[in-house]
Amino acid sequence: MRPPFFLTGMENLEQLVTQATAAFAAATELARLEDVKAAYLGSQGSLTALLKGLGKLPPEERKSAGAAINDAKSRIEAALAARRDDLKNARLAAQLASESLDVTLPGRGQARGSIHPVMRTLDRIEQLFRSIGFEVADGPEIETDWHNFTALNTPENHPARSMHDTFYLLDTDERGGRVREDVLLRTHTSPVQIRTMLAHVEKYKHLEHMPEIRVICPGRVYRVDSDATHSPMFHQVEGLWVGEQVSFADLKGVVADFLRRFFESDDLKVRFRPSFFPFTEPSAEIDVAFMHGALEGRWLEIAGCGMVHPNVLRFGGIDPEKYTGFAFGMGPDRLTMLRYGINDLRLFFDGDLRFLSQFQ
Ligand code: PHE
Repeated sequence: MRPPFFLTGMENLEQLVTQATAAFAAATELARLEDVKAAYLGSQGSLTALLKGLGKLPPEERKSAGAAINDAKSRIEAALAARRDDLKNARLAAQLASESLDVTLPGRGQARGSIHPVMRTLDRIEQLFRSIGFEVADGPEIETDWHNFTALNTPENHPARSMHDTFYLLDTDERGGRVREDVLLRTHTSPVQIRTMLAHVEKYKHLEHMPEIRVICPGRVYRVDSDATHSPMFHQVEGLWVGEQVSFADLKGVVADFLRRFFESDDLKVRFRPSFFPFTEPSAEIDVAFMHGALEGRWLEIAGCGMVHPNVLRFGGIDPEKYTGFAFGMGPDRLTMLRYGINDLRLFFDGDLRFLSQFQ
């Protein structure tokens, strides 16, 4: 076989460059271009074959032949790079054309968020109670059976403890083994009373006269209940005032004054109706009646209250011989419904913007 260089010669190198350039031009996609490149510059390509054949040339020809081949090679490489750039630019141009923006179109606008009506009520309740010296306390939504029931003087057989009323949780370890079964989603905010008392007593144990406890505890609570006026998750605000001289008269004054300020209605009627709670004695339900508007003259229940039961004070580490206190638990969802004239509790939790945007 004759040496490859003689087979092609200088003219044939020229032809090869022209041929390669034409082949690159014929490739209209980048992927195809890389295939074509292989035919010339790849390990099996024509130029590579020529370079490999150099060794078979007589020594005096090798240098000039090598230079000629390398020159052809770099021209082919330059042609390839130029074609690659062209194809990339074309692709970008096509993309820009297809994704073009009409900057003259009017903007889509940004909807303005707003505070949820129930949160608005909670803010307002906090503000009103802070103004008469109450602090805001907090507690976990996943509670122990002890804090939610036992320490609140709620007996084993009380209906609130039944599976139909309460969401019990199973605490398990990584392998799924049961660790404890006495945890639940709190059914009311009253366990925060216990937590508050225990922490307060611990904090002031060095003092002979501990300062009064005056807190409200807003938060989410859970019960197995769902209809137009009940939701499995709803809100409560607990109130607790413990001191050396706290009486039922204080309870009536604080709550009635709060409600009149909340509803901005000086002639709001407030009624304390005898009732029962395991954790208070005596206990009452608090009803309100508006003197005007759609609900005029109707009594509506909005809270439970009473004097903290001596057993509950004891569970909180407080001596019932020395201290008394009152507690109340009210429903801010209900308060919001009354304030804004809403008749279905579920609207608060559906997340429907048509409803929520009315409170902007
Ligand atoms: N925890 C009671 C309930 O959920 C309300 C309440 C709180 C009643 C404090 C009395 C005192 O119904």
